[in-house]
Amino acid sequence: MSTSYRICLLPGDGIGPEITAEAVTVLGAIGLKHDVAFEFSEALLGGAAIDATGSALPEATLEVAKAADAVLLAAIGGPKWDTTDPAKPRPEQGLLGIRKALGLYANLRPVKIFDALRDASSLKPEFLEGVDMLIVRELTGGLYFGDRARETGVEGAATGGGAGMRAYDTMTYSEYEIERIARIAFEAARTRGNRVHSVDKANVLESSRLWREVVHRLHEAEYSDVELVDQLVDNSAMQLIRTPAQFDVMVTENMFGDILSDEASMLTGSLGMLASASLGDGTALYEPSHGSAPDIAGQGVANPLAMLLSVEMMLRYSFAMHDAADELAAAIEGVLADGWRTRDIASADTLSEKILGTSAMGELVVARL
Ligand code: IPM
Ligand code: MG
Repeated sequence: MSTSYRICLLPGDGIGPEITAEAVTVLGAIGLKHDVAFEFSEALLGGAAIDATGSALPEATLEVAKAADAVLLAAIGGPKWDTTDPAKPRPEQGLLGIRKALGLYANLRPVKIFDALRDASSLKPEFLEGVDMLIVRELTGGLYFGDRARETGVEGAATGGGAGMRAYDTMTYSEYEIERIARIAFEAARTRGNRVHSVDKANVLESSRLWREVVHRLHEAEYSDVELVDQLVDNSAMQLIRTPAQFDVMVTENMFGDILSDEASMLTGSLGMLASASLGDGTALYEPSHGSAPDIAGQGVANPLAMLLSVEMMLRYSFAMHDAADELAAAIEGVLADGWRTRDIASADTLSEKILGTSAMGELVVARL
């Protein structure tokens, strides 16, 4: 009897459905080759869910996700649901809600340079030499989940004086939350370059001071074989484009990780190349780091590679299908080495006949499998 895995698909919004289709095709080919049956169930999340049910994370979606062996999420959000009205539902609530509900506290974002894409990066090629890093972003704490509110009638808050509105968000971290994410980072470092940069703002923030203490305590107690470097987040933002090769594993809190991973993605040439895995206590979730790109949705030009690289991570982390993951990685590399590009990773001298749409790119990857 062959193995079977249940995958919950959350195509979401914008380019989400287009890149999800490519992931399904690729998984079909991998399943055939490795005698594994992937069973797909699809559920609503984000804007699509708001339109259908009024909620960005319907109860039914959570049930399907929890029952699956892994969740593959494409992207959520778009101008249609943009609002600053706190009473209106937002697609992002679906994403944050499912991360929290599944206990996905560790977001792994590998930043890997593809040889063929060196010229697509906004940095000169010599700065990319040796770049291979993993961002470990804490995903269920910090500013994203702390107390927040808007207060009205606050004296002195209005423009020009008088009573007006004031809003706040809070960054909260417990020792427990810091220790478990630091552990993931140290463990990952041991399988890679054995160095961890812990990124914080300990010169200003109390939560960062606790972060630093806990990371060092754990380091001394259990991971003194791993090199540990503290770095202030503003410095990290600079170092990432100055000497990106200094980084092996970077561990940081939720919001810093959100910002720094977008920055780091540009080392690879495009946000369209950055995959991610969100791990925790329950079902793991895989998603590209990019958004729903509403400006190009429905045109068939989106880059499916970050989605396919997320499938690669799923094969590794959730199904331990390392051969299949290696083959998928090699197929993607091969297609790029042959000069095929989607628009976002094309350079000024890419021939127009080498620029492909979403499904043509997916098909080439399948052909190489
Ligand atoms: C990401 C995204 C999300 C985040 C948004 C869409 C809420 O930017 O996964 O990085 O901020 O976590
Ligand atoms: Mg982000």
